[in-house]
Amino acid sequence: MQKKRIFSGAQPTGELHIGNYLGALKNWVALQEEYDSIYCIVNLHAITLPQDPKTLRQKTRDLARIYLAAGVDPEKATIFVQSDAPEHAELTWVLSCVARMGELERMTQFKDKSQKFGRRPIEAEKAHFEEIFVAASESNLENTNPPHNRRSTASFFQTLETAAAAKGTSVSEVVQAVIDSLQSKRDETRRSPAERASVGLFTYPVLMAADILLYQTDLVPVGQDQKQHLELSRDLAERFNRDFGVTFKIPEPYIPKAGASIKSLQDPAKKMSKSDENPAGSIFLLDDADTISKKIKRAVTDSGTEITFDETRPAISNLLTIYQLVTSKSAEDCVANFAGKGYGQFKGELADAVVEFLRPFQERVKQFDDETLTTILKKGAERARSIAQTTLVDVYAKMGIGR
Ligand code: AMP
Ligand code: TRP
Repeated sequence: MQKKRIFSGAQPTGELHIGNYLGALKNWVALQEEYDSIYCIVNLHAITLPQDPKTLRQKTRDLARIYLAAGVDPEKATIFVQSDAPEHAELTWVLSCVARMGELERMTQFKDKSQKFGRRPIEAEKAHFEEIFVAASESNLENTNPPHNRRSTASFFQTLETAAAAKGTSVSEVVQAVIDSLQSKRDETRRSPAERASVGLFTYPVLMAADILLYQTDLVPVGQDQKQHLELSRDLAERFNRDFGVTFKIPEPYIPKAGASIKSLQDPAKKMSKSDENPAGSIFLLDDADTISKKIKRAVTDSGTEITFDETRPAISNLLTIYQLVTSKSAEDCVANFAGKGYGQFKGELADAVVEFLRPFQERVKQFDDETLTTILKKGAERARSIAQTTLVDVYAKMGIGR
């Protein structure tokens, strides 16, 4: 019988933290034994927020190293970079004609990220537009007397005259064009952050659906934060199958019981997140032993003294979950281990366990040279494309597109 297939991915942005490892990577490694596994580095998802091109290129390769160091075995699993299989972008277009505005508007990640990252105008920028807007308006009214105490305004006026001469039009036509463009810039600085988010950030879940559906995926191991996106993938697949005939397999989520949402060490109400401004909230996979110990020592705790899993004490429960997952002990054994011990001792043992857990990983990260990496990613992309192409050809044929 053919093996069932899993597909998952992570973005090559920021620093990976122990939440990514315990919520996702750890399961990828376990599942590759049993499933035909495809693990993607989703660089096209990364550009939904501004990225520095050089850094993005570097992080894409770094993430491949992290997959390998975590134990993803290129002999068993397929590892590839999303943009190396152009079928992802192509199917995204098709699926964006299947997805509805309303369902994307309900995605909570868009709401969160657009609030957080929508480019906020700085006050100086606002004031700057305001000032030249006023100057331009005055000029439009044939006011040949710009305020002399503003050097920038005077030189601005001169620029207008030069531009008009070059174009062979009147100053007031140039001014009108400038006003129109400034008006739209000024309006833009007044819009809400969500309105300034990229369209790509909004349609992000459609690209994720394309990733999954191209491979006729059975199972998608992800953390809790991706559950809603996965439900959208299922809805899109079902709608397409209904309208055009059965084409896609309907994927199931695989969300681990423990570790699906590791919380910030500084605020157990928030998930540990790559984009957290406070690095003390996260244990990064490449943090050294000393940094890890310090972060754990400074982690917030709850009132009370017992070290148990207890929903009403989220900080301790989170630390205990991390302990459980890095030691692979049962929940009962963890609780028994700390019975009668204080927070200080608990934190010390937890720090040691995390350091031990990450040590072999950190050593392996350095082992993959550039050439090996290139070969693995090339082979991965070839295999991925061979599957993705078959699905895309079928999709187009069913829709009356293509030869
Ligand atoms: P990302 O960092 O968004 O590329 O996420 C990569 C994977 O890590 C996804 O499957 C996420 O669901 C998972 N993940 C991210 N943050 C956490 C967290 N705090 N706890 C558990 N899993 C997480
Ligand atoms: N959106 C996921 C995240 O940020 C990453 C991702 C992209 C993904 N495509 C995927 C995960 C397909 C699973 C399957 O974590």
